[in-house]
Amino acid sequence: MAQSKTPMDSLTVMTQIVLPNDTNNLNNLFGGQLLSWMDRACAIAANRHCKETVVTSTINNVAFKNPIPQGAIVTIEAKVSRAFTSSMEVIADVYLESKGPGEPRVKTNEGIFTFVAVDGLGRPVKIPAIHPESELEQQRFDAALRRKQLALIIAGKMDPSAATELKALFYPSEGAEQ
Ligand SMILES: CC(C)(COP(=O)(O)OP(=O)(O)OC[C@H]1O[C@@H](n2cnc3c(N)ncnc32)[C@H](O)[C@@H]1OP(=O)(O)O)[C@@H](O)C(=O)NCCC(=O)NCCS
Repeated sequence: MAQSKTPMDSLTVMTQIVLPNDTNNLNNLFGGQLLSWMDRACAIAANRHCKETVVTSTINNVAFKNPIPQGAIVTIEAKVSRAFTSSMEVIADVYLESKGPGEPRVKTNEGIFTFVAVDGLGRPVKIPAIHPESELEQQRFDAALRRKQLALIIAGKMDPSAATELKALFYPSEGAEQ
């Protein structure tokens, strides 16, 4: 098993300019185009973590908080937040470049993706562990297991009674082992 890695090892930064062909009827970035860019950036981050072929398993959540106008410069920063056995959660943060000197960039979107590392026959393979370093990386690492359990329950792949992390969240006094 390869040695464990950090989220920063997987950091992927992708910058795009919004051209007319990327927009909707309001001349803002079309959501499907942004999803495609995010999926691509996250796939590269997942590959950087495990150095295996990776496939998108689920898109757990994508929030489109603010419209992104035509002509805008968009930067996507993707990092693996947690690695499990063969699957990993990757979070993409989307920023709109500042319009002038001294103005801060604005975070417009966030997406949470799950990728699975597979062999040449598409079968899941083991991936290295990950060790968060910053406070935000630790928060995202901790929350990733809750998100995985929720996604598995919704997909009908986990019995809710086995979701220890979710139970600990909603019923802390009962303890995680209940
Ligand atoms: C992703 C894929 C390989 C998973 O196959 P599978 O038979 O479900 O494999 P498993 O049940 O062994 O699950 C593999 C991992 O995915 C996780 N997983 C499966 N479904 C999940 C879901 N809905 N949410 C979160 N994780 C999920 C499992 O928990 C497991 O994680 P772990 O090994 O880290 O514990 C398979 O579904 C596939 O090939 N899908 C198509 C992928 C693709 O083509 N994507 C591009 C989109 S066009």
